[in-house]
Amino acid sequence: AEISYIMVKPDGVQRGLVGEIVGRFERKGFTLRGLKLFTPGKELAEEHYKDLSQKPFFKDLVDYITSGPVVAMVWEGDGVVKSARKLIGSTNPLEAEPGTIRGDLAVQTGRNVVHGSDSPENGERETALWFGSGSVEQWQPALAPWLRE
Ligand code: GTP
Ligand code: MG
Repeated sequence: AEISYIMVKPDGVQRGLVGEIVGRFERKGFTLRGLKLFTPGKELAEEHYKDLSQKPFFKDLVDYITSGPVVAMVWEGDGVVKSARKLIGSTNPLEAEPGTIRGDLAVQTGRNVVHGSDSPENGERETALWFGSGSVEQWQPALAPWLRE
């Protein structure tokens, strides 16, 4: 099944938005497969965002992500990657639609509270990177028949 790596960034944790953000994915109907809080090291942050390593803001981005604890999560569901990106909203929170996480809860690109994988391949890659391959829980939600026919 498709999975997405979702992360509450250090600003989201510091601002007490963990429950709000987790709740949006729970209420939508996706399945939580993994969750942990810790402060990531520089190497992990650099590997996670390696596609952006040539960008002028790369150092600030790595400093931001390593500045305190994050909540690392894996969510499962058909279409979860694309749907999570919609729930999260545009990279620049001022352009994110109201009703999205960034549209409702953030004001600046450099403090946009949450990450979501941008493709199913990256969902797998980032999950392996942050949780180790094969180390997220697999379980059958009892409510499944009430979410999907
Ligand atoms: P993620 O879900 O975190 O990957 O965000 P995204 O997919 O919406 O955007 P992208 O992958 O292009 O950029 C990754 C992160 O880098 C963004 O979420 C921002 O936190 C940060 N970022 C992107 N562009 C800028 C920028 O122009 N300035 C600064 N300071 N940060 C940026
Ligand atoms: Mg991205």
